[in-house]
Amino acid sequence: MRALHFAEYGPPDVLRVADVPEPHPGPAQIRIRVRASGVTPGDTYLRSGRFREMIPLSLPHVPGVDAAGVVDEIGPAVTGVRPGDEVFGLTDLARLGGANAELAVLAAWAPKPAAMSWAEAGGAAANVETATRALDRLGVGGGARLLIEGAAGGVGTVAVQLAVARGALVTGTASERNHDFLRSLGAVATTYGPGLAERVPGKVDAVLDCAGSGSLPELVKLAGDASRVVTIADLGGAAHGVHMSRSGGGPGADPQALHGLAIAAGLAGQGRFRVPVAGVWPLEQAARAHELSETGHARGKIVLTL
Ligand SMILES: NC(=O)c1ccc[n+]([C@@H]2O[C@H](COP(=O)([O-])OP(=O)(O)OC[C@H]3O[C@@H](n4cnc5c(N)ncnc54)[C@H](OP(=O)(O)O)[C@@H]3O)[C@@H](O)[C@H]2O)c1
Repeated sequence: MRALHFAEYGPPDVLRVADVPEPHPGPAQIRIRVRASGVTPGDTYLRSGRFREMIPLSLPHVPGVDAAGVVDEIGPAVTGVRPGDEVFGLTDLARLGGANAELAVLAAWAPKPAAMSWAEAGGAAANVETATRALDRLGVGGGARLLIEGAAGGVGTVAVQLAVARGALVTGTASERNHDFLRSLGAVATTYGPGLAERVPGKVDAVLDCAGSGSLPELVKLAGDASRVVTIADLGGAAHGVHMSRSGGGPGADPQALHGLAIAAGLAGQGRFRVPVAGVWPLEQAARAHELSETGHARGKIVLTL
């Protein structure tokens, strides 16, 4: 099958489309013929070698952790899904990839709602899982006043909408060119950077940091207590008493919030959730997609199609 892969660490141009062996689903897994798959900042960190000490990959590596497509093979002990069904979901965390390919094995999935295009569905699962995990951890519910730092990116745009759907009152930070966009998702918009406390209207009950830009001291002050702040992006969170939420096992990892997939699909069907797509490229032009991710200013999720 055709797959995106890299055989050495390096800049985006190490990405190549090559013929690789087909994967097959193990117990509790399914295989899909991929229509679209996502690019996350994590994929670019792995490709560049930034994490090679912490997370050594066996090269060549097929990147991508989320995808949407048509089920074509079912693993043992799987019920409730059949070949031909349209789904979106996540690859097995242990593989750290595998989605940017013609065929991908999913370890978690939900039916693709008709309201989501293939591009939206292909880029939905990882950010929905992450946002749901963080919002659950913060206990965000009706009436909560939530601040999201870095609200215009892949995770932020999804977190804004899932929090609004829970009845939260959301303020999101982004550069000014993204403020109308954030308002269209249901948030009050403000700029990030020094002096944030003066720009955020009223009291804040909880903060989700999706930026990791070093603003945790100010975010903790805004929330009143470090326990009211969760970061998904600042590896130094503990130094500020802030929980750094990640999944994937190992000490300190949170369980995956997989129930979020069906919730997001249901909201999409009601017209209350969409996946803002920052750009779509064919697999062959994945280097351009990684370059956009590395600018740190993508508006929403980056997607590859087949
Ligand atoms: N721990 C986990 O489980 C987990 C899961 C997924 C992602 N992550 C991490 O979370 C972070 C966000 O992921 P993502 O996919 O949302 O990234 P992304 O899509 O690349 O984020 C891009 C967004 O970041 C905003 N931004 C850039 N600099 C900012 C700053 N100083 N303050 C606030 N916003 C800023 C940009 O807004 P403007 O263009 O308006 O500046 C842009 O919309 C990444 O570091 C990623 O590695 C962690």
